[in-house]
Amino acid sequence: MAHPDDRRSFLRWATLGLGAVFGAILGVPAVLYLIDPRNKKTRPSELRLVDGVRLDDAELNQGVPKQGVIRDVRVDAWTLHPSDALGRVWVVPAPNAPRGFRVFTTICPHMGCSVNLGEGEFACPCHSARFGFDGAQIVGPALRGMDELDWEPDPTDPQRILVRYESFQAATSAKTPIH
Ligand code: FES
Repeated sequence: MAHPDDRRSFLRWATLGLGAVFGAILGVPAVLYLIDPRNKKTRPSELRLVDGVRLDDAELNQGVPKQGVIRDVRVDAWTLHPSDALGRVWVVPAPNAPRGFRVFTTICPHMGCSVNLGEGEFACPCHSARFGFDGAQIVGPALRGMDELDWEPDPTDPQRILVRYESFQAATSAKTPIH
């Protein structure tokens, strides 16, 4: 028969052990959440992944621009959204560009609507501006062409794109970043 002191000691250690197990179960996800790079705030100048476009995409390499999504952390009153859509870009094949592709924000430089893909050109639905795949305005009221963004291949996967996503003032001839 076990001595009462042995039983008390066993129960104490069992309680401590269970506490440690539950602490680990609750703590590990919290630590993973904190170290996940998607949950860190990013500055405007940081490179961000273009979600949904790969440079080896068959259609893209046949000359069809592809739209990608830029994601970022968004915090509202109670909730942290780790992967919210911050904006969109058009990735355009450009054989004469240094890396063979150009990236433009989808935001129209006229009044900020979203520029769509048309037949061999980009078209803004709001006031009918049309832009070539080089970003230059073909016809319309905008005072400048589509805004091109700096990009570079993702070092961990060169078929993915990292872009310096920015917004620019609308309705001006100068391309002025909004910070
Ligand atoms: S917002 Fe695009 S043409 Fe006016």
